[in-house]
Amino acid sequence: MIILGIETSCDETGVALYDNKVGLLSNQIYSQAQLHSCYGGVVPELASRDHISKIIPLIRSVIKQASLQLNQIDGIAYTSGPGLVGSLLVGATISQTLAFALKIPAIPIHHMEAHMLIAMLDNNEIKFPFLALLVSGGHTQLVYAKQLGQYKILGESIDDAVGEAFDKVARMLGLEYPGGAMLSNLAKLGNSKRFLFPRPMIKFGLNFSFSGLKTFASNIIRNNINNKQTFCDIARAFEDAVVDTLIIKCERALVQTGLRRLIIAGGVSANYTLRQKMSIMMDKRKEQIFFPRLEFCTDNGAMIAYTGYLRFSNIIQNPLSINVNPKWSLMDISKL
Ligand code: KG4
Ligand code: ZN
Repeated sequence: MIILGIETSCDETGVALYDNKVGLLSNQIYSQAQLHSCYGGVVPELASRDHISKIIPLIRSVIKQASLQLNQIDGIAYTSGPGLVGSLLVGATISQTLAFALKIPAIPIHHMEAHMLIAMLDNNEIKFPFLALLVSGGHTQLVYAKQLGQYKILGESIDDAVGEAFDKVARMLGLEYPGGAMLSNLAKLGNSKRFLFPRPMIKFGLNFSFSGLKTFASNIIRNNINNKQTFCDIARAFEDAVVDTLIIKCERALVQTGLRRLIIAGGVSANYTLRQKMSIMMDKRKEQIFFPRLEFCTDNGAMIAYTGYLRFSNIIQNPLSINVNPKWSLMDISKL
């Protein structure tokens, strides 16, 4: 079975082809990061317009790379939420239209489910149930994954998502949007003893709060002589605070649920310190931890194509409606 996957939930146009017998045939991405960087964040209207101009050439390009014909595709999976409504509509429209023309199913996919399940592409040891920590630019969630399509959100951020906090602190340090990965590079050169950031909301519960760390960072920037080393030290202290907080909450969720497998996914799961420290924590607990391949941590079409394959058989579809769900919750997924 060959599935075409289309991701347009935010500012990356991602298209991929997955064949369940062979694996990933092609995975291409066009990032709009440069388009939005001068605004310090994604401008929704610009994002949807850019998806419109990039999506068809990208579809043609993956088909060419895989040496396929359109009529060899068995289904088209597309992100139908959560995300920016205009961007989602571009992917949904092209997918539903192409599927209708080719007389094949169009499969609406939940973006966060895809982030989580792509970890399974390289790790066939992953079995349900498991705990998932989803950390991206828009979400920070602890999820009890009971089985495919059955998810319970155990905790989430009450304000900024982790990736959002990374990007905002990065901006204060003069880095371009999205600055999460660049902040992490500065942190590698930082002195972990110079500043101590708070670990927010760690005493109880499974919810998170990251917005206070921005204020903390801006106060430190205001009260210090700002040179390269100070910025590296701030980046180090910020990253340590975030990672420690995520570890404390994950451990608590593992204890509370009795789950022994942890998947960490979403853009921030590319973070080196997070991967290292979480792995050490899970090693000590003698429990299993899994991450997606680095290139599949941030938004991509492969995760949509692969999840489309997993979900192919339980889709009830209405070929003439083009629906997106910008606020779609993981807990409402089984109502597909
Ligand atoms: O999953 P994703 O590509 O998009 C959303 O669904 O939001 O996540 C993007 C987020 C951005 O905030 C980006 O700065 C962050 O992931 N990110 C990182 C790293 N790589 C990407 N944050 C910290 N360290 C990284 N290495
Ligand atoms: Zn994402």
